[in-house]
Amino acid sequence: MTLPQFVKIVEVGPRDGLQNEKTPVPTEVKVDLINQLSQTGLSVIETTSFVSPKWVPQLADAEQVLKNIQKAAAVNYPVLTPNLKGYELAVASGAKEVAIFAAASESFSQKNINCSIDESIQRFEPILHLAHRDGIKVRGYLSCVLGCPYEGVIEPQKVATFAQKLLDAGCYEISLGDTIGVGTAGSTRRLLDLVLSKVPVKQTAVHFHDTYGQALANVLVALEMGVATVDSSISGLGGCPYAKGASGNLATEDLLFMLNGLGIETGVDLDKLLAAGTFISQFLQRKSQSKVALALGA
Ligand code: HMG
Ligand code: MG
Repeated sequence: MTLPQFVKIVEVGPRDGLQNEKTPVPTEVKVDLINQLSQTGLSVIETTSFVSPKWVPQLADAEQVLKNIQKAAAVNYPVLTPNLKGYELAVASGAKEVAIFAAASESFSQKNINCSIDESIQRFEPILHLAHRDGIKVRGYLSCVLGCPYEGVIEPQKVATFAQKLLDAGCYEISLGDTIGVGTAGSTRRLLDLVLSKVPVKQTAVHFHDTYGQALANVLVALEMGVATVDSSISGLGGCPYAKGASGNLATEDLLFMLNGLGIETGVDLDKLLAAGTFISQFLQRKSQSKVALALGA
């Protein structure tokens, strides 16, 4: 068993973390959070979503957030784009990388983006085409890879086939989303066994929500299988408004603590990360969901 020497942490807190917050978070607070995260050594900070403000009111200020952050040269600031309109707005606001998001479950696709899986693929085609022309990188998310809030178990084979489809369509990286956090070390291994036979491990990322407290165990399995890109969220913020029971993502502080313990490099500074986590938790007037932050009294 060889673990990766370096893991790229994809910080999704400002997007996946905040999208589910009921109380509007002012644009300045989002910008401040992202600016603080930019100083921690993270190389990817998913910044916001150019989605319908009717569907996700919290991120209605996507344009202002993306335009107002201080972009660090070494950091990528991808944004979610569900359709051509979102892509065009994102690029006009300075996005250099976007993410499309599909689901391995038909019902979740309908609830989340109001179309079938097949329709979603058709919608993504023009985005991929324009992105190729514009030199914009496209990440592909696949949700419900280990279970769906509406359909229950999802066949791993279906996920693997779909992941390959997104890759063939031009996504440079596929992030496998355990949207409601039902995955275990066992089901993660079974899923990756199949997915990694279709998608190169270097282009595979994992994205665990921590609803059942399994996220770190699942990440360890993924690392053992060679995956070296892991999504996580500052203070464990998060959840999907269209996934009943989706709690926060794996906390970035907890992920980093484990990676440090394994001697895996990330380039990320734990103290600076803890400070950013304290900032947003205090703003939200909520205890951090990161066990490491709580243990260290951050
Ligand atoms: P729709 O209602 O079918 O779309 O929604 P529409 O084309 O009929 O448009 C409805 C209205 O929205 C129109 O405005 C459009 O102009 C506007 P109106 O004419 O009524 O005034 N609109 C937009 N405005 C701004 N930006 C846009 C945009 N598109 C339309 N891009 C749609 C379809 C896809 C737009 C909608 O369902 C949507 O925005 N869904 C996003 C849901 C979402 O963000 N979910 C969370 C992210 S996914 C996630 O969290 C999972 C992940 O973390 C991985 C995991 O954990 O598994 C990634
Ligand atoms: Mg998510």
